[in-house]
Amino acid sequence: MSTVKVSLTVNGERHELDVEPRLLLVHLLRDRLGLTGTHVGCDTSNCGACTVHVDGEAIKSCTVLAVQADGAEVKTIEGMASADGTLHPLQESFWNDHALQCGYCTPGMIMSAADLLTRNPDPSEEEIRHGLEGNLCRCTGYHNIVRAVQSAAKGGSGRIEVPAPASESAATAEAVASEVKP
Ligand code: FES
Ligand code: FES
Repeated sequence: MSTVKVSLTVNGERHELDVEPRLLLVHLLRDRLGLTGTHVGCDTSNCGACTVHVDGEAIKSCTVLAVQADGAEVKTIEGMASADGTLHPLQESFWNDHALQCGYCTPGMIMSAADLLTRNPDPSEEEIRHGLEGNLCRCTGYHNIVRAVQSAAKGGSGRIEVPAPASESAATAEAVASEVKP
């Protein structure tokens, strides 16, 4: 099959790849770039486990072709911690508030919550539940997830700004955000 050249920036790193036109962004991230913190839970745009940021907005990367991300800035869970390994406030609050059990949904939850807090730094419980309704969790019952997002928001909206990406922080970030890899 013929391929198409795609250029995109992922977690601050520029990549140029030849991809099949049918390749989904989630598979480019996981299979070509090795960023397995972005999970595949359904492949049918239901679960939100594959949520990443594209040009600052949360999207389900199983619904986007890699070629559609040509020229885009992509951020995954591996890019959420700061260069010195300091976790993103949402990663801290998910940890502290026990907002995960198996961890499969967690990267997507955090990416969606970060987008929500960027748009609404002080959301109500209802707004958090509404903002995360595209992300499914089979384990936690959502209560602690909502509490974690509230905790991160209370830490100050300024802390929600996405830190500079750092490849060296990827392992730490993913260890917290994703306890189970497929
Ligand atoms: Fe993308 Fe479930 S894998 S929404
Ligand atoms: Fe298991 Fe959410 S913690 S699916």
